[in-house]
Amino acid sequence: MKRRTAAEIRKMYKQFFSEQGHLVLPSASLVPHDDPTLLWINAGMAPLKPYFDGRVIPERPRIVTAQKCIRTNDIENVGHTARHHTMFEMLGNFSFGDYFKREAIHWAWTFLTEWLELEADRLSVTVHHSDDEAFKIWHEEVGIPKERIVLGDEDNFWEIGEGPCGPCSEIFFDRGEVYGCGSADCKPGCDCDRFLEIWNLVFTQYNKEADGSYTPLPKKNIDTGMGLERIASVLQDVPNNFETDLFMPIIQATADVAGVAYGEDEQRDVHFKIIADHLRTVTFAIGDGVLPGNEGRNYIIRRLLRRAVRSGRKLGIERPFFFQLVHVVSDIMGDDYPEVREKKDFIGRVVHTEEERFLETLAEGESLLQDTLDRLKQEGKTVLSGEDAFRLYDTFGFPIDLTEEMAQEQGVSVDRDGFMQHLEEQRERARAARQAAEGMNSERGVLESLTTPNQFVGYTQLATNSVVTALIRDNTLVERLEAGQEGEVLLDVTPFYAESGGQVADIGILQSQEGSAEVVDVKKAPHGQHLHRVRVLSGQLTTGHPVKAEVKADVRRDIVKNHTATHLLHKALREVLGEHVTQAGSLVEGPRLRFDFSHFGALTPEELAEVERRVNDVIWRDEPVEIREMDIDAAKSMGAMALFGEKYGKVVRVVKAGDYSIELCGGCHVERTGLIGLFKITSEAGIGAGVRRIEAVTGRYAYQYVRAQEELLQDAAQLLKTSVAEFLPRLERVLEEGRQLERELESAKAKLNRGRAAELANQVTVVAGIPVVSAIIPDVDMDGLRQTVDELREKLQSYVIVLGSVVGDKVQFVAAVSKDLQARKLHAGQLVKRVAAVAGGGGGGRPDLAQAGGKNPAKAREAVECAAQFVKEIAGESEG
Ligand code: ALA
Repeated sequence: MKRRTAAEIRKMYKQFFSEQGHLVLPSASLVPHDDPTLLWINAGMAPLKPYFDGRVIPERPRIVTAQKCIRTNDIENVGHTARHHTMFEMLGNFSFGDYFKREAIHWAWTFLTEWLELEADRLSVTVHHSDDEAFKIWHEEVGIPKERIVLGDEDNFWEIGEGPCGPCSEIFFDRGEVYGCGSADCKPGCDCDRFLEIWNLVFTQYNKEADGSYTPLPKKNIDTGMGLERIASVLQDVPNNFETDLFMPIIQATADVAGVAYGEDEQRDVHFKIIADHLRTVTFAIGDGVLPGNEGRNYIIRRLLRRAVRSGRKLGIERPFFFQLVHVVSDIMGDDYPEVREKKDFIGRVVHTEEERFLETLAEGESLLQDTLDRLKQEGKTVLSGEDAFRLYDTFGFPIDLTEEMAQEQGVSVDRDGFMQHLEEQRERARAARQAAEGMNSERGVLESLTTPNQFVGYTQLATNSVVTALIRDNTLVERLEAGQEGEVLLDVTPFYAESGGQVADIGILQSQEGSAEVVDVKKAPHGQHLHRVRVLSGQLTTGHPVKAEVKADVRRDIVKNHTATHLLHKALREVLGEHVTQAGSLVEGPRLRFDFSHFGALTPEELAEVERRVNDVIWRDEPVEIREMDIDAAKSMGAMALFGEKYGKVVRVVKAGDYSIELCGGCHVERTGLIGLFKITSEAGIGAGVRRIEAVTGRYAYQYVRAQEELLQDAAQLLKTSVAEFLPRLERVLEEGRQLERELESAKAKLNRGRAAELANQVTVVAGIPVVSAIIPDVDMDGLRQTVDELREKLQSYVIVLGSVVGDKVQFVAAVSKDLQARKLHAGQLVKRVAAVAGGGGGGRPDLAQAGGKNPAKAREAVECAAQFVKEIAGESEG
C-alpha cells in the first residue's frame, strides 16, 4: 500500500471508472436542484435521483463522480470522534439499468486491491442476509473466504429519507490490532477503529415513497459510495480523518493564528477539528450560494460558523479569524472544486461580516446565560427553561446548541422541547407557506416506453406540419382524443417550447382536417420529447394523422424579449454588484421576468438605475444575438456562464447577446437586442437570506408600465390643479402651505387653551377647604386637554383638577393635584381612575398628573363631577 494524497485518490477513482465506460461528471451543487425532499445533497447519488427513478434518461448509463455532500444530523459529535463530518466527499460509481452486482463488486475489488494496493486479506465484506447472489460473487468469484463475509440485516439495506434505496454490501479494511478495542468478538461492524468501513455498494432496486412504502424501480441500478476522507486516512495511515492532507493544512493554519499547537492536548484538539470541519462546510456552502441566515440551510451555516467561532475562543482567539482560513480550503480543494477558488474573496467577506456580528452578540449572550445559570443554581434547579433558551436565541442570536453546551458544562440541562415549541411558534408566524413537497415519482408508466425522439424546430419556426405520433389519456395510450377531452400529444416535429430553464412553455393550436385542439402546456417527457397537454376544441385528434402545429406568436415574442433581457440583467448585475452574483432562480413569461440572485443586501436606487441603464444600453446598441452549439469545454473557455447545479451534456448551446453576455442556455431569444425595445425594473426585494429578487418588464409591457406611471403622475397633477411640468414646484408650495397652516393652528390652539384656562380658573369650587376644578371641554384632543391643565396649574397655587373631553365615542380625562395637597393624600392617579371608572374605562398614573380614557361619553359629565366626592372623602378623612 502506497501513500496517496486525497487529490490523487480522487483522480484515480475517476480514471478507473472512466476506463470502465463511465461518464465523469463534476460534483453537483450542495443545494438540491428541484428536490424538495432534501435540505442538502447528502450522498453521491442524491443529485442523480431523476436518473434512478426514470424521470430523466442520462446521456450515458454509467456515471462516476466525486460529490461534495453535507450531513448535519450529528453536528454535536463533530470534533469528538475520528470520522464525523458535516461535509465530506463521496466517490461513487453509478449504473442506471446497465451493469449490476457482478460488475460493481469486481470493479470495487480491482480498484482497492490493484489500484490502491490494499492487501486483499485485510479486506472483509458484509452482505444482506437474503442476498445469496452477492454472497456468491464475493465468495466464489472474488475468492473471499466465508469467515470474512458477514451477514447483516438493516445495516445492509441502504436508504436515506425518500428516494432510491436497496440492499447493500459494505467493504471493510482491517487497520490492524493497534487500532482495535481488543475485545474477543471484534469484527467488521465493531464500533472501534480497527475494521473501517470504506465503501458501500448499494444495489438500488426500490424507491422509498413519502408514505414509507417501497416501490420497485423500473430498472436495477448501482449506487456506490466511498468516503474520500476515510480512504485517505487509510492510505496515509493516520489515526483519524482530520490528520489527512484534507484537513491538516487548515489545522496548521488555525494553530498559527491561535499560537497554540495541535496534538498536545486532546481536549484542545477537539476545537481544532471543529474549526477544520466547519470551515470546509461553510466555505463550500457559501460558494454554492447559501448565506448565513435564520432558516433552513442558511441557519445551519450560521450555526456552524458560530460553533467554529466559539471553538476559536476556546483556543484563545478573540477576534475574527475564520474568514482568513477560507483561502486554505481553496488551496486544498480548488483544483477539483473551482467554484471555491473563484469565489474565495466573496466567501471570505461573508464569513468576516458574520463573524464580527456574532462576536458582538456572543459576549452579551454569554454573560446573560451565565446570569441565568447562576440564578438557577442558587434556586437549586438543574433545568434551563425553553423560554429562557429561546430568548437567548431570539434576542441575542445565541444558538441553542451553544446554550446546551455551556449549560451542560455547568451541570444544567436545557428544556429543548420547550425551546422547540417557542421556535416553532415563531416560525409558524413568520413562515410563508412552503410549497407542498412533491414526492418522487417512480411510475412514469407509459411515457417510459415512448423512446422515439421528436424534432424541435421552435427556435426558428413558430408553425409546422407535423404528424401525431402518440396520444395519451389518463396515462394510457389511445387512438384518438375527442372534442372536450384533455390529454397529451407527441408529435414528430414540434415548434412548441417545453417549459425549462425558467422559460414557460408555449401555448397555441393543433389544427387538422378532422378538428382542432388548444395546447395549454408543454413539458419534457423522460426521453426528452415535448409532451403537449391539449384540450380538444372540435372534432378529434388521431394517432398517425397530420396536424398543423402553431405556436401563439405574440405570446412567444413577448417571452423571447424577456429571456434575452434576463441574460442581460444577469450580466449587468455582476458588473454593478460583483462576481458573487449568481442566479438562484428565474422565471421567463410573456408579461414579465423574474430573476433571483445571491447578494448581501437591498440594491440602492443608484445601483438599480445603473443596472437598468446598462441593460437598456445593450438593447439600444441593437446587437445581434448569436446562438451556437459547441463542446462544453469550448463554451467555458469562451467565458460562458453556466448555471451551477444545472446538468449539461457534452454539447451545449451557447447564447451570446452582442459582446455583452454569454450563457449556456436552451431557451428562445430575440435575434437582435434592439427588439426588446425597453427594459424596466418594476421591483427589487429580498426573498430569503442573501437572495434578492428583481422583477422587470420589456417591450409592450414596459411601455404599459411607463404609461401607467405617467397616468398616475397626470392624475396627481390634476388633483393639484396643475400640469405635470408644474407638478413638483406646486407640490412643494402645497406642502409649505400645509406646514404654515399647521403652525398657525398650533398657536391658535395654544391661545384658545390659555383663554379656556383663564375661564376655568374663575370656576374654582371649594370642597372641604380645597380648590377643585372639574369640567368637560368640548372638541379637544388629549394634547389640548393636557395643555389646558398645564395652563391651569400655572395659574393656581393649590388645586385638584380634573378635565374631560369627548372625542367621537371615547372620553378622555386628565387629572392634576398640587404638591401641598398630595401631602394630604390626594393622588391624581387615584382620582383619574375613579373618574374614568364612572365612564366605563380605566387608567392611572403619577400623584401629580395622570390621564385615563372611558368608553361611555354619556357619563362624561357625571364622571368629572365625582371629583368633589373624592376630595371630600380623602381630605375629610385626613382632617379627621
Ligand atoms: N448512497 C450510498 C451511501 O451513501 C452509497 O452510502
